[in-house]
Amino acid sequence: MSRLVNSVKSFSTTASSLLSDATAASVRPPSFKVCRDVPSIRGLRRQLLQKERTVGFVPTMGAIHEGHLSLIRAAARENTDIFVSIFVNPTQFGVTEDLSSYPRTWDADVEKLEKLNEELERLGENSASAGRITAIFAPTSKAMYPCLPPSSEVDGHGSFVTITPLSTKLEGASRPVFFRGVATVCMKLFNITTPDRVYFGQKDVQQTVVIKRMVKDFHIGTEVRIIETTREHDGLALSSRNVYLGDRRRTVGLTIYKALKAAENAYLTGKTSREDILGAAQSVAQSVLAQQQGLSPSERALYEVDYISLADPDTLDELETVEPTKGAVLSTAFKMAPLEETNAGEDCGLGDGKVPVRLIDNLILHPRA
Ligand code: PAF
Repeated sequence: MSRLVNSVKSFSTTASSLLSDATAASVRPPSFKVCRDVPSIRGLRRQLLQKERTVGFVPTMGAIHEGHLSLIRAAARENTDIFVSIFVNPTQFGVTEDLSSYPRTWDADVEKLEKLNEELERLGENSASAGRITAIFAPTSKAMYPCLPPSSEVDGHGSFVTITPLSTKLEGASRPVFFRGVATVCMKLFNITTPDRVYFGQKDVQQTVVIKRMVKDFHIGTEVRIIETTREHDGLALSSRNVYLGDRRRTVGLTIYKALKAAENAYLTGKTSREDILGAAQSVAQSVLAQQQGLSPSERALYEVDYISLADPDTLDELETVEPTKGAVLSTAFKMAPLEETNAGEDCGLGDGKVPVRLIDNLILHPRA
């Protein structure tokens, strides 16, 4: 046991040593460990198990926002300890995708998690059930993929988890390695952290369906919790990629939510056919696009609708009619094109409006009582 504890000490770093000096000076002593490799987080997990504590695990790729914090708050309500992973997983990015430009905001992430721990500590003063973040697991690629360099090629070599046909639908149709990468890294993370419960956001609905299927099919001993999407005041779903939008694309990008709400409204007012429900969403998406096309390149933001789907909640098979006792998943993806022309002083977002932004969102059509 003492060897185990020593190895935890030697392999883990504290949060403050990874913060910039200026930031570190202004914060309290770190309230969680930062583990960079597998033995250190495993050692910590074993200690917690021996003390009969429970672990809730929140996997992230960093760029922590309010959506992630809501997952951690949910984990804190039912676990004594929370592990948060920060790992930009290369295998879920296709060869032409934005791995190198994915936002990496380590200092800000650590600061947000420290602040959240302070909040959880205050809550804990009034309730015995509030857990805390105990560790950030921020492994290297080599730690996560120890044998072969991680491959993003569709036919690349490696040890992969594939969940078909779920992974080939919707997002998987245009991102063929995405869910293989997500399932593979989550299997590794679950094996390493052996959490009692794992927390995912509803925003990535297909990811939640794939993970639930993987946990069931591989008999993984963890409970999967899905937490409602966190939205901005006007309904735009929070996403790490929103920082690339800028004002103009953000305003137009809200159409994704408006289109889903129109379809939801059709269902809530009694419609059950695909034509009626998806027709409502398509008409919003098309009319806004037509308006934008009528504007000049320096005023407009163009997009392409990748898909609007009405699908079974468990299989993601497309539905012709919603069975009201079962409900459905309504989901969509919009590709916001780079801005064609920008204006002096305009907020064009990170990357100056040149980065294409894929927006995804969904609403659950709940079973009718
Ligand atoms: O949702 C994400 O941020 C990622 O897909 C996840 C689950 C952390 C796996 O890399």
